[in-house]
Amino acid sequence: MKLTAIKGFNDILPVESPKWQYVERVAREIFHLYGYKELRLPILEKTPVFTRSIGEATDIVEKEMYSFPDKNGVSLTMRPEGTAPVVRSFVQNVLYSKNPVSKLYYIGPMFRYERPQKGRYRQFHQIGAELFGAPDPVADAEMMAMVTHFFQATGIDRLSLQINSLGCDECRAKFKAKLIEYFSKDKGALCENCARRLELNPLRILDCKAASCGELKKAAPVILDYLCIDCSDHFSAVKDHLNNLEVTYKVNEQMVRGLDYYTRTTFEVTTDMLGAQNAVAAGGRYDKLCETFGGPKTPAIGFAIGMERLILLLDDNDKYSLKPQVFIAAMGNDARNVSIKILKRLRAEGISSEMEYSIKSLKSQMRRADKSGYSFVLIIGDEELKKNLATLRNMATKEQTELSLENPVDDIVRFIN
Ligand code: HAM
Repeated sequence: MKLTAIKGFNDILPVESPKWQYVERVAREIFHLYGYKELRLPILEKTPVFTRSIGEATDIVEKEMYSFPDKNGVSLTMRPEGTAPVVRSFVQNVLYSKNPVSKLYYIGPMFRYERPQKGRYRQFHQIGAELFGAPDPVADAEMMAMVTHFFQATGIDRLSLQINSLGCDECRAKFKAKLIEYFSKDKGALCENCARRLELNPLRILDCKAASCGELKKAAPVILDYLCIDCSDHFSAVKDHLNNLEVTYKVNEQMVRGLDYYTRTTFEVTTDMLGAQNAVAAGGRYDKLCETFGGPKTPAIGFAIGMERLILLLDDNDKYSLKPQVFIAAMGNDARNVSIKILKRLRAEGISSEMEYSIKSLKSQMRRADKSGYSFVLIIGDEELKKNLATLRNMATKEQTELSLENPVDDIVRFIN
């Protein structure tokens, strides 16, 4: 029986990996411009890292986590997102004592037991950034400016930045009461999940994709009408800073996020090119989370980009891959022995190069060089070898040049540059 990968877990094949490397490269470059440093974290965490932070009555915690007991019966979870582990690490490693402001980013796989479809997988990858220690609205605006800058740098357009505010505990308590009152009137029309969560977490109804809840949602109260003065001022200032930075955005007062840790600003970057899975990045402020993890009161804000969705938006273009440079087609044993030494010197010069390991016809070697995308082929025949000569073929122009084997590497470097 052939063994296959787990449903919703994908291989990233060599033909696709250049796009992944490209996206990671752009992220590292852009985040560096804003002063962010990489934090590499474990994939497994103790389950409460997520249950306590994301919220017990969320889809992620209720039904999407890969959790299991280890050999000692301790419940572990494969991280469904990166923010909670970053906060766990921030508190555990006392990063707040080293600098009043910490700017961290991460790149890696996340795991959610969701129904796989285009743009939604069970193992997916996020590039995330988190900023600690900055309560000011200018930090919110800069975070969104950074994510916009990143998308511009990858060459992706047709994206929309949507923003909202979820207020503080005080605003949300008032809003929750209003929501419970509103939805209770039509409780029978809610889907089973939302009816069950109505009292516990009515905000989740606003995030529900079921058609029946969708209808009810249309006339539901909106959070922006329940913001306290401080939260309202914060939101206005965020919008002013975004205008000042010339970042285009739309206020989406219906947007609530699928995780419970948010306070005040939330945002999503959406596309109209991916069907139902339209969020390419999402994030928000979470000023209370550090305390939940036993750390000091530390305001924070962050976002995560869904790498699979972003990669689906990249055009098919070979600009993402590094091109291999020189293939050596050696004809015969002696030529092959010389070739392996030339390869060593080419690689020492930083030139990506290969040769055929077994004795094959020139035609078959040329075919392999062509298929692998080599720009040049150095042909060394046994006859030419006796005259100390080789032929360098430019695969694009088909031009051929004879080279001396005295010092072929210098000549090759000159030709290919
Ligand atoms: P999230 O909205 O759950 O937020 O996920 C962020 C992004 O990850 C989504 O917008 C989407 O692009 C991608 N994503 C989520 N689930 C899947 C999936 N099953 N398959 C493919 N892509 C997916 C968070 O995870 C928060 N930690 C973001 C954040 C950071 N908030 C503050 N800091």
